Amino acid sequence: MSRPAPSALLPWLESLRCPHCAEPVELAERTLRCSRHHSFDLARAGYAPLLAGASPTSGDDDDMARARDSFLATGAYAPLREAIAQIAPPHIRRILDIGCGTGYYLAGLLEQRPDAHGLGVDTSVRALRFAARAHERAAAASWDVFTRFPLADGSTDLVLDVFAPRHPEEFARVLAPGGHLLVVRPAPDHLEQLRTAVPGMVGVDPRKEERLHEVLDPLFTTVRTVPVSFALALDAPTARDLVAMTPSARHVGEQELRALLTGTSEVTVSVVASLHRRR
Ligand SMILES: C[S@@+](CC[C@H](N)C(=O)[O-])C[C@H]1O[C@@H](n2cnc3c(N)ncnc32)[C@H](O)[C@@H]1O
Ligand SMILES: [Zn+2]
Repeated sequence: MSRPAPSALLPWLESLRCPHCAEPVELAERTLRCSRHHSFDLARAGYAPLLAGASPTSGDDDDMARARDSFLATGAYAPLREAIAQIAPPHIRRILDIGCGTGYYLAGLLEQRPDAHGLGVDTSVRALRFAARAHERAAAASWDVFTRFPLADGSTDLVLDVFAPRHPEEFARVLAPGGHLLVVRPAPDHLEQLRTAVPGMVGVDPRKEERLHEVLDPLFTTVRTVPVSFALALDAPTARDLVAMTPSARHVGEQELRALLTGTSEVTVSVVASLHRRR
């Protein structure tokens, strides 16, 4: 007997669209199907595989997703999770988390919004397996943020984007009138100490803020911008996970990572969270 489809997916069924032909889809047992007979079997882990054809342009590999899960499980970024719940509008029903990773922030927000349901989207299979079980009201789906989203116009109240790639035109399209976008990105001094210790770590583009506004401003009005900063004491395994969960892992040699495993360090978490209303 096959397992029932995850109940967290049900509130999204009306909004989901076929990634091939944009027709509505229906769910029968564990298969999503459009009227043109394109079909998508839910993954065993429970997420909806809606990547149309081509392989995704980017995404975390299994090791990065696993490192992210262990790092976030330490609670090290709990202050950021709390800040996100503070900044998000109070009355939201539908939350779309883009590049959701393990679903940590989506789950935190759902905890604070008992009437809301969420959908976490990512291209990383390993991340989606975590995201599909992050919260009982969180569904998960795979699609590439740089393509057209398999969602109807106006089908969400909040798009959450935490350290993830962005597609402002699609964010605006899938947001309902008056809907919001919440973006979290690193500030220039984010994890500065770690970046000094590990020379291969990717830096923060100093023009990041300017470039973000260039692309968002035509579509969104900025409601508020909140710096979130706190000190973090890291033991060696946690520091290793923190490096290993970032794209820097690809540029940092094994030796450098091993060097990090000795001793404890304090780092500054410094990010910017902003809330934007769809114009
Ligand atoms: C830095 S991680 C952030 C994850 C999560 N928001 C968090 O903060 O814990 C970026 C995430 O975006 C996903 N991602 C990268 N490229 C993507 C794409 N083209 N479409 C969808 N997700 C993508 C990665 O797989 C990864 O999980
Ligand atoms: Zn179709």
